[in-house]
Amino acid sequence: MKKRLVTTMFAVAAVAATMSTGVMADDAHVIGVAMPTQDLQRWNQDGSNMKAELEAKGYTVDLQYAGNDVTTQVSQIENMIANGDELLVIASIEGDSLGTVLADAKEKGIPVISYDRLIMNTDAVSYYATFDNYLVGKTQGEFLVNALDLDNIEGSVNMEIVTGDPGDNNVNFFYGGAMDVLQPYIDAGKIVIPSGQVSKEEVATVNWSTETAQQRFENILSSYYADGTVLNAVLASNDSTALGVENALAANYTGEYPIITGQDCDVANTINMVNGLQAMSVFKDTRTLASKVVEMVDAIMTGAEAPVNDTETYDNGTGIIPSFLCEPVAVTVDNYKEMLVDSGYYTEDELK
Ligand code: BGC
Repeated sequence: MKKRLVTTMFAVAAVAATMSTGVMADDAHVIGVAMPTQDLQRWNQDGSNMKAELEAKGYTVDLQYAGNDVTTQVSQIENMIANGDELLVIASIEGDSLGTVLADAKEKGIPVISYDRLIMNTDAVSYYATFDNYLVGKTQGEFLVNALDLDNIEGSVNMEIVTGDPGDNNVNFFYGGAMDVLQPYIDAGKIVIPSGQVSKEEVATVNWSTETAQQRFENILSSYYADGTVLNAVLASNDSTALGVENALAANYTGEYPIITGQDCDVANTINMVNGLQAMSVFKDTRTLASKVVEMVDAIMTGAEAPVNDTETYDNGTGIIPSFLCEPVAVTVDNYKEMLVDSGYYTEDELK
């Protein structure tokens, strides 16, 4: 019985390897996949989705997580190059810190795909695959305008802003997309920011850390809201930082609960959404991104044309990097079942 199962599994694997456009398993083409951290739910999903899909196409996958430590990521990439990995897929920790190691990859003719976050200031990057990051920010901004009814209300609302790691190029797009929508309301006095913290530097969160966001928010609450000032909204760029805000509010705020944005539809935040503690999250289906990157990898490895749909937006300092942008979608308590459960992203049980 066991033997039969094993034989069947091999047969399935062999069929998968020959049927796909990929390479045969025994050719052992190794693809290096460098992910930033296992601390955040999404990168675990990104990594395992990529691994499974690449293996189904017959590739061998060298998947590494760097614990959000730049030096570790650099040495993991050095090892991938030394071990003969033939293509590198990298979600960087700090976009600007990989120039030297990637110069080596380029010299050895190893193509590099920048995954989700753009790797900056190196001409070693062949392609970029991500979600439309500007649209993520714009979606959050537009959600707040509608939810706060800013075009119709008399008077003003109070809002605070929390974004992510200053070394992550995506932050510029999340913040930029949201502020392009919200700035006119700030200028018109419809949105007031009691802390006065609005510049990209002031609202950043190193490593996108929940704890860091929570600490900053506890300070904001005790300095600007302890007198009963109402907080109407929080523009949080993603779910890990939104969670920090929600934790701070739970322990330090009793006023009318604010409208909070997020991104990723992490399990904890989706549960908070269902419980009324977070108004929305921008869903970026990591399965879609992984599949697109696997298509790119396979095209490069087989000499076909890699899929791109944007050749204007992402300049990494050495020129425009041809990109594929996947589409983000706003999720709220009204559509989370359809988007997250019916689509098979989560089971009902995972969201309990
Ligand atoms: C990703 C987000 C993620 C954040 C923190 C960003 O670069 O695009 O999806 O929430 O990093 O890991």
